Amino acid sequence: MQLKGKRILLGVTGSIAAYKIPMLARLLIKEGAEVKVLLTTSAADFVTPHTLSVITGNPVYSSFYSHDGVWNNHVELGLWADLMVIAPASAHSMAKMAHGLCDNLLLSVYLSARCPVMLAPAMDADMFSHPATQENLKRLKKSGHEIIGPGTGELASGLTGWGRMEEPEFIFGKIILHFSFQKDFYQKKVLITCGPTRESIDPVRFLSNRSSGKMGIALALEFENRGGDVTLIAGPGVQKPESFSGKFISVESASDMYQTCMENFPDAEIIIMAAAVADFTIAAPAKEKIKKSKGESFILNLSPAPDILSEMGKKKRKKQFLAGFALESNNELKNAVNKLEKKNLDMIVLNSINDAGAGFESDSNKITIIGRSKKKNSFPLKLKKEVAKDIADYIKKNHHA
Ligand code: CTP
Repeated sequence: MQLKGKRILLGVTGSIAAYKIPMLARLLIKEGAEVKVLLTTSAADFVTPHTLSVITGNPVYSSFYSHDGVWNNHVELGLWADLMVIAPASAHSMAKMAHGLCDNLLLSVYLSARCPVMLAPAMDADMFSHPATQENLKRLKKSGHEIIGPGTGELASGLTGWGRMEEPEFIFGKIILHFSFQKDFYQKKVLITCGPTRESIDPVRFLSNRSSGKMGIALALEFENRGGDVTLIAGPGVQKPESFSGKFISVESASDMYQTCMENFPDAEIIIMAAAVADFTIAAPAKEKIKKSKGESFILNLSPAPDILSEMGKKKRKKQFLAGFALESNNELKNAVNKLEKKNLDMIVLNSINDAGAGFESDSNKITIIGRSKKKNSFPLKLKKEVAKDIADYIKKNHHA
């Protein structure tokens, strides 16, 4: 009964995906939530108010007045809810929400609601990719709403592509997550990097490292679950986590990562460089595949790659919190403190390659956090998702923005 006592307003707008909403309502009720449903007139073409009323045990609200002439107080409904979930959210309804229009009860409740709002868009692929819809989505996201999906697959139009409403079980999972985390980073702009970088030697070869990106991904999910507006810049080979709804940018080389980081840095409030960025790049990558000459050795000419964290340290504003990682093999504490000072960081997370089960590729990590005061906080070996929680908790305590 993870949702016991939680009040959820389900707003249903006109899309064929509305036929799946009774399933979502049922999942919520079974988990102990109290659910009230708001239906637009066009949504009622796809799902009946009777079905939803039977499932939720509550009246279903469609217009400002019930049949008996009683006024459905939209402000009261908005204040009643702990969470408003609009699923499916049609392109038209989202456009109205993005611009504050309220020509039906659902939209009036939305405008009056003080609780967090989640949206699960559903529409045809071309409608979804249209710049107007994308602009509206950006606005809604900026208002702090969580956008769930849409997913990709078969659409009612017969086309295949982005625009499918996520399945009820997926939306349900997001709602559970929403209530299981304290939203202590609500709307905070968090920039995280993860994974390796790749420096091209020639069109088929590169220099890289063993970073898997797991630590950065765990951090991105932790901050997102706690309400953060997360941008994840990931090196090659790192896949966007399925449940991550923030901005995901894939980059290749240290210089790509540098450029992308610098573009996103000014807006970020918390920055965590978990990526294993190359220190050296190939001075002049060959345009054609390099051929071996028998018996001869081959020398690669390397030049320094940009140090992203150092650059950020120089540009850092007072209210920005800058965190780095240090993976060391010897003189661990001394090296980490040096990096903290040299790069002007607020915190450094030290891990040692000498600790079994820690570091690259592993699902666990053993860290020591060192802050500006140089006080050391050592943690035992933990799963990376628990390590991410420790790091987020530390930042919560020490970031005074
Ligand atoms: N870092 C960076 N840009 C680089 C290299 C590292 O932003 N070109 C960041 C890493 O993301 C990490 C921190 O700097 O957060 C420390 O990285 P690390 O490789 O441990 O240290 P370096 O500064 O590269 O020093 P060294 O390799 O000599 O230990």
